[in-house]
Amino acid sequence: MTAKLILGTEIQKLIFEEIKSEVAQIKEKHGVVPGLVTILVGQNPASISYVTSKIETAHKLGFKEVQDSQPVTITEKELLALIDKYNKDDSINGILVQLPLPKHVDEKKVLNAIDPDKDVDGFHPVNVGRLMIGGSEVKFPPCTPAGIQELIVRSGVDTNGAEVVVVGRSNIVGKPIANMMLQKGKGANSTVTIVHTATKDLASHCKRADVLIVAAGVPGLVKPEWIKPGACVIDVGVNRVGEKISEKTGKKIAILRGDVDFDAAKEIAGSITPVPGGVGPMTIIMLMKNTLKSLKFKLGIA
Ligand code: GUN
Repeated sequence: MTAKLILGTEIQKLIFEEIKSEVAQIKEKHGVVPGLVTILVGQNPASISYVTSKIETAHKLGFKEVQDSQPVTITEKELLALIDKYNKDDSINGILVQLPLPKHVDEKKVLNAIDPDKDVDGFHPVNVGRLMIGGSEVKFPPCTPAGIQELIVRSGVDTNGAEVVVVGRSNIVGKPIANMMLQKGKGANSTVTIVHTATKDLASHCKRADVLIVAAGVPGLVKPEWIKPGACVIDVGVNRVGEKISEKTGKKIAILRGDVDFDAAKEIAGSITPVPGGVGPMTIIMLMKNTLKSLKFKLGIA
């Protein structure tokens, strides 16, 4: 059996068009567009690339977009003052501080300074709490878990009462997606297990999964024999395992590998996300969805 491919590259295009059309409607009716600021500290090449993609996508959707680049020498106090400025700026609905931050800056302090109602990354403790409560309390689900849930819903995977196993317990992916999958509602209502580095028998848990979500950051960790035949496998791993020359551009690009042994797993799973092209493309579009949502909350139309 060859699994159905769950393609984030395709699904994000559908969501892009939905957001674009809603932005145009809101602009016409209310005379405003969503505003997103991305704050980049320093020159980390991966961070520059992420921020550039975020700003380009926001621009194409008709958002107001601000890219605020700061030198690596910025003090914590200056960064907090900058966040305060955007917290008070009425034209800005979403504030994203690209991580990681330099060591002399307390990341927690910075993230906690963002107005929870503009925290489109969903990292502020208030939004983590809202997510935990679930239902109508949720404002901004974190972008990668939200993207995973969209992939699951839009590819028609039945999660109701299903065994979901999450591999990894990070604050950005593992913990929030596990929490989201156990809430009542569409694309959730599952029986959830989280496994991690201290779990005694990873394989036995994975083998039970109707939906296996892997966010461990270990290339090829999940072996084909750990997969239940017909299961849905969501691979969140984006591991750089080398470099190659792109046939398209002639430039050096990273060779990416997921946390799942894809070639073998696709012969057993019912559906599976590839790496690249699965979860990755969903994160940015969910950030845009959260920014639009933030404006809609403000307008009272969410
Ligand atoms: N760095 C890597 N991923 C992310 C993300 O999703 N949000 C932010 N703010 N920084 C990141």
